[in-house]
Amino acid sequence: MQNYVVNPGGYLRGEFTMPGDKSISHRSIIFGAIAEGITHVSGFLQGADCLATMQAFRTMGVKITDPVNGNLTINGVGLNGLRAPDSIIDLGNSGTSIRLLMGLLAGQNFSSVLTGDASLCKRPMARMAKPLREMGAEISMRDDNFPPVNIIGHKKLRAINYVMPVASAQVKSGLLLAGLYANGITMISEPAPTRDHTERLLGTFGCQVERKANQIILTKPSHLKATNLSVPADISSAAFFMVGAAIAPGSEVILKNIGINPTRTGIINILQLMGADIQLFNQCKLGEEPVADIKIKYSKLKGIHIPKELVPLAIDEFPAIFIAAACAKGTTVLTGAEELRIKESDRIQVMADGLTAVGITVQVTSDGIIISGEKIRGGIVNSHGDHRIAMSFAMAGLAASEEIIIQDCKNVDTSFPGFAELAQQAGLDIITEN
Ligand code: S3P
Repeated sequence: MQNYVVNPGGYLRGEFTMPGDKSISHRSIIFGAIAEGITHVSGFLQGADCLATMQAFRTMGVKITDPVNGNLTINGVGLNGLRAPDSIIDLGNSGTSIRLLMGLLAGQNFSSVLTGDASLCKRPMARMAKPLREMGAEISMRDDNFPPVNIIGHKKLRAINYVMPVASAQVKSGLLLAGLYANGITMISEPAPTRDHTERLLGTFGCQVERKANQIILTKPSHLKATNLSVPADISSAAFFMVGAAIAPGSEVILKNIGINPTRTGIINILQLMGADIQLFNQCKLGEEPVADIKIKYSKLKGIHIPKELVPLAIDEFPAIFIAAACAKGTTVLTGAEELRIKESDRIQVMADGLTAVGITVQVTSDGIIISGEKIRGGIVNSHGDHRIAMSFAMAGLAASEEIIIQDCKNVDTSFPGFAELAQQAGLDIITEN
């Protein structure tokens, strides 16, 4: 088992480049694969999750060069050019890969089986299968909810008008991918705005998607056209450095070229509400995605009631936000975040256990948590193989009074290869033990 040992204290300083955005990297492979022509990608995240997506398309006959420093080339096979995979597709830890591929594969002329690691095999897939079945897909799953997922090919899909019961960019994206193969006009309504990279990338690949209020409307295109893509740096990875800088006196970091798509910037809004000192500059666009350099300095934080509407806009950043809350003066209350219970781990319970282990008082609720800002002591935290929990507690070391040992950190490689090295360069006293 890989553990982090973090010595207490220190601060973060310097200018850093974060890895490529995970959500956009997955989608760059998917759209590049089913477009006509050659797509060049730069800034691709070479983390295990995105490499699993890449491998899946290689097993379906798509030629993709080995990524080098985030650069790769995809030989698109067109909407109907994928080949039956000759084995089960293993998507490791990646929820985004499996849900988006369910949508894409439901409309193919071949059958497929998707699976993943122990964590992925406990995550619910019925939310994706249910609307796909309404479109005419034939899908079976373990206990009708969990991977492995069996998808029967040769089904004619019909477009649906679907009102999503939960705010999920993965479900929305899976349905848009199925919509590329469905007769008619696919309409999806979301209960709250979620990341819209799929919609933006469809536009980049030449397929117009319309948005009317909370509804996304897709007309089946004849083809997608290959393009060149630059992937912005991942705000979800930047979040750990933002929180680290915000909680450690003497810190000041600049994080370069970070994606600031408004469906992803809840972390900035929440930290600012807590009193963080954050500035954005050099704002511009990379393709359809807005980016900026983010400067963040230490300042005294205060506890807040997190506005419910910010929850989907910061859904992956709550482990890091909980560390900021533990260091803030007063109490932080999160509600409306039951989705956190079905991420790579039950992020409410696993964070609550970890915070308790390092001396913080918390109260778990069904859809959130209440955290009392206090002094972080130190202790042993089990990340349960959840990359974002591991990185969050690593940053907590900056504000701790004793050593923090974080267990089961291998999966940090799913989203942030080189995290410990970069954090150490920035000023965190962190050692990786294998
Ligand atoms: C993602 C959507 C979110 C997020 C995940 C990536 C995506 O999941 O938590 O890390 O790339 O579409 P949900 O759709 O389940 O909220």
